[in-house]
Amino acid sequence: MATRDLLIRPVRPADRDRVIELTKDIWAGHDYIPNVFDDWVSDAGATFQAVEVDGVVVGLQRLRPYAPGLAWYEGLRVATSHRRQGLARAMLESAIAEAREQGFGEVRLATGNPDAVRLFESSGFRRLVDARWWRGSRVEGGESARIPDEAEAARLWPRISGTPGTELYHGVVADFNGAGDLGAAELARLASIGMLRVGPGGRAVAGLRRPWGDNLAVSFIAGQGGSLRELLIALRFEADADGLDDVVVTLPRDHPAADDMHASGYDFANADDHSYIYALTL
Ligand SMILES: CC(C)(COP(=O)(O)OP(=O)(O)OC[C@H]1O[C@@H](n2cnc3c(N)ncnc32)[C@H](O)[C@@H]1OP(=O)(O)O)[C@@H](O)C(=O)NCCC(=O)NCCS
Repeated sequence: MATRDLLIRPVRPADRDRVIELTKDIWAGHDYIPNVFDDWVSDAGATFQAVEVDGVVVGLQRLRPYAPGLAWYEGLRVATSHRRQGLARAMLESAIAEAREQGFGEVRLATGNPDAVRLFESSGFRRLVDARWWRGSRVEGGESARIPDEAEAARLWPRISGTPGTELYHGVVADFNGAGDLGAAELARLASIGMLRVGPGGRAVAGLRRPWGDNLAVSFIAGQGGSLRELLIALRFEADADGLDDVVVTLPRDHPAADDMHASGYDFANADDHSYIYALTL
């Protein structure tokens, strides 16, 4: 095994070319790491690491604080030339130890890669969300949904937390940039930054996340029936008003709102993909 001279160390600006090279054959050249490299390498608040074997960078990972007690793990990559040698496992173990040392209570992550799923599950991570993506195109001519204030947002939670399917989020927002705890505090936080939408009568809510493309991105919905359908349609109006292409909703697999989604003009966007959120309690 080629891990004899393995060194895990911070990524440096001078690693840029090598990082771009090693990510070239990941995801058919669509890896996002080259786009975020400059931000990541200059972010002193996170731990962005490279693994070197015999003096050459052959892997990457990042651990980032994103909510009290929570660290987000992302950017795990091993060069195709060095796979199946235990490098990812060694890096992950080191990141977990680092998270413990820094006093985090939990590490969470998102992945769609079945190989990585095996690694994370064998390292003790538990699956929280089995995410499916739904897409509804923009539609003209209607009102956007209301943004509640913080106090109202917090009061909404006890009313909608028990609606069917909400339990399938397993207590987290399905935000693949960092999954926070789903609850009254998160609703209030989202409302305070204009990222929460409420349906008629407060019987449905949608939490927004930072989008990856020209869309309105929803990381969770809760509620049911007419209120939920009106909210889902209002999101499509909002996409149009904002000049966005569509609305993308992350919904756990087998969520009972599937009927409401279809009735509101949404379709499955990733029938073949698997995307999960995992967590490890430290
Ligand atoms: C996923 C990835 C990081 C694994 O790196 P690696 O160094 O080859 O992984 P390791 O050798 O440490 O293997 C660790 C475990 O992962 C699983 N695994 C890794 N590659 C696998 C494969 N090709 N087939 C099946 N299981 C695999 C196994 O459970 C393995 O444990 P085992 O060797 O005891 O069976 C690497 O394939 C990669 O960079 N993929 C592309 C980027 C990506 O998808 N990253 C994950 C994003 S979260």
